Amino acid sequence: MADIEILEQELTGAVDNAGDEAALEAVRVAALGKNGAVTALLKTLGAMSPDERKTRGASINMLKDRVAAVINARREVLKSAALDVRLASETIDVTLPLREAPAEAGRIHPLSQVWDEVTTIFADMGFAVAEGPDIETDDYNFTRLNFPEGHPAREMHDTFYFNPKEDGSRLLLRTHTSPVQVRTMLSKTPPIRVICPGRTYRSDSDQTHTPMFHQVEGLVIDKSSHLGHLKWILHEFCKAFFEVDNVNMRFRPSFFPFTEPSLEVDIQCRRDKNEIRFGEGEDWLEILGCGMVHSNVLKLCGIDPEVYQGFAWGMGIDRIAMLKYGIADLRQLFEGDVRWLNHYGFRPLEIPTLAGGLST
Ligand code: DAH
Repeated sequence: MADIEILEQELTGAVDNAGDEAALEAVRVAALGKNGAVTALLKTLGAMSPDERKTRGASINMLKDRVAAVINARREVLKSAALDVRLASETIDVTLPLREAPAEAGRIHPLSQVWDEVTTIFADMGFAVAEGPDIETDDYNFTRLNFPEGHPAREMHDTFYFNPKEDGSRLLLRTHTSPVQVRTMLSKTPPIRVICPGRTYRSDSDQTHTPMFHQVEGLVIDKSSHLGHLKWILHEFCKAFFEVDNVNMRFRPSFFPFTEPSLEVDIQCRRDKNEIRFGEGEDWLEILGCGMVHSNVLKLCGIDPEVYQGFAWGMGIDRIAMLKYGIADLRQLFEGDVRWLNHYGFRPLEIPTLAGGLST
């Protein structure tokens, strides 16, 4: 019996000395594991006589149970001590400021915001949004818009062409959103009332030109729409967009191959030192081109000019964004500088609505 008592004292001492759960586990393995001391005692039973085995077996099994109980009790103590240490080291300072959630920290680019503002205003007037591809055919970008082959207006567009195909035709990056007019007229029957916002491309780069820029096109085709309607639409648009009660506008005669008559529109403004005010003042600022859709364009797009008529306009989204938000250099819009975006960008959940305000 003495050996059992000695072993028990040894093991109990080792359990008490175990400073953490890993050390305790080592003691458990050394006692009760496959090659442990208590297991080794149990293995000696096989060589004993039946009587001896009965008494000796019972005491070894009791030893095993007591050792297991001591180990379990010690484990509970160590566990709760470890938890106390962890709780003490992981205290949370509830007075620290919250880190911004991603939806708070991100910013919407002013161009995306203006794009949304423009579509919101025209959607309210009953316009649908039409889209077309950035890569266009010469036919849709020029020919069906009444730019004859070799016409000087083609040269003015500084077009990016792709390499010619085998048949000699060349695809191009659309130089304006007007080809979406063509696509819309070819695929829909009037009445048509759409706007077409999108990316456009010209080989040009300076403070007011970038090789990629944005336009929004408008197109109305029915049996009776005329320039008076166009004027009203543009006037209402400018008031809503620039968020002023009145805007003075000037319609000047101009030339575009796809409209007849063609006009350019200026809005009145006042330039103070660092600020522009819209709607009043002494200066004029050009913001868009427009006109009645040329009968050749209607014909080339499968619409009978004897029955239908309508008007169109095109304006630079980047330009009106710069005017409205006081951005001096067009190139800044495309530099991807996060500091600039933090300053000029909009909070993601500030979605422009006519009721709630476009740019609050
Ligand atoms: N497509 C013209 C341009 O990029 C802009 C334009 C002018 C569009 C008059 C129109 C329009 O629809 O009627 O220079």
